[in-house]
Amino acid sequence: MNSFGEGNHLTRGLPGKLADLRILVTGGAGFIGSEVTAQLSRQGSRVTVMDDFTSGKIEYINSLDGVTVVRGDVCDREKIASATRDQEIVIHLAAMPFIPDCYYYPEDFFRVNAMGSINVIWHCIQSKSVERFVQVSSSEVYGTALYEPMDEKHPTLPHSTYAVSKLAADRAVFTMHKEHGYPAAIVRPFNSYGPRVTQPYIVPEIALQLLNGRNTLMLGNVDAIRDFTYVEDTARAIILASIEKQAVGETINVGTGVGVSIRELALQQAKILGREVTIQLDEKRLRPYDVGKLICDFGKARRILNWRPMISLEEGLALTIDWLKAHPISYRTPFAGWPSVYRSTGS
Ligand SMILES: NC(=O)c1ccc[n+]([C@@H]2O[C@H](COP(=O)([O-])OP(=O)(O)OC[C@H]3O[C@@H](n4cnc5c(N)ncnc54)[C@H](O)[C@@H]3O)[C@@H](O)[C@H]2O)c1
Repeated sequence: MNSFGEGNHLTRGLPGKLADLRILVTGGAGFIGSEVTAQLSRQGSRVTVMDDFTSGKIEYINSLDGVTVVRGDVCDREKIASATRDQEIVIHLAAMPFIPDCYYYPEDFFRVNAMGSINVIWHCIQSKSVERFVQVSSSEVYGTALYEPMDEKHPTLPHSTYAVSKLAADRAVFTMHKEHGYPAAIVRPFNSYGPRVTQPYIVPEIALQLLNGRNTLMLGNVDAIRDFTYVEDTARAIILASIEKQAVGETINVGTGVGVSIRELALQQAKILGREVTIQLDEKRLRPYDVGKLICDFGKARRILNWRPMISLEEGLALTIDWLKAHPISYRTPFAGWPSVYRSTGS
């Protein structure tokens, strides 16, 4: 059974050390966060989710066993002091993650992604109970591939204020780990996709255009290449980093090692649905200073976490499309004034 009771790939690969552990998951109602929360719940962990529900959804977690929900902002010192108290592990996912939004709200991105992360790790250090902090970073901190596959030594040349804010958080976490001898790990997922959609990322965007009956897909830069990891695999890597001792002080990439262009991604989804489509450029979707290529070298995750991706793109896309057929999506946003093209779920 997976997190929706629809077939299980899941707790394969997670050691049985997680039962009864007290774990705080920030952003635990979000896309990746709800999968982390679901996997921990199945392992018998005592999970507290802290989320402000700007994009996360209570319905993604409210049927899970052993999960307590606290509504709050990761930038709120008192809330974080209270939420971290008596926890044993903190997995920090809360962030503003959708790149097109950061063109318009760079300061909000920096506040939540950089300052919020510092606030959370600082209170973990102060708590005296939290024995491990996991920072969820992003492959976007690397900028476009100078070589591939990209290992953790790849230069960090971020292309968006989102990526800059994530890199600032990573560096602060690493520095605080050193300054305080504090056991923190940094996980860098490449693009993730799967059920429990919260943002108009490219996989659900293509799927929704197809499910809405479009035969001409309206897309931006279809030559961009990304490395797509099914969310169950991403979440498992994040959890493993929270319990594996060798992860402390390390930055660990998580991806499949396979580069796929957005064009190929669209055609693969059309094929799953048995559809013939054409693709038309929608100039409004072109991102300024876009990242051309991201392909992950996951050798370090394999060595340190004993992790490898288990779900193929074909299987993962089919699971995602099935989920989208059964679950109407609406995107929530804390802001006004988004470019409507990104936030529409209609055709
Ligand atoms: N989805 C990907 O492909 C991907 C890839 C690499 C890294 N990441 C990182 O993974 C993490 C989760 O991203 P996601 O894709 O699941 O997006 P998401 O929007 O679903 O998750 C973010 C969660 O954080 C919550 N949140 C936002 N601001 C908050 C605040 N100020 N206080 C408390 N909660 C807040 C949201 O409500 C949401 O539940 C982020 O840190 C993101 O940078 C995502």
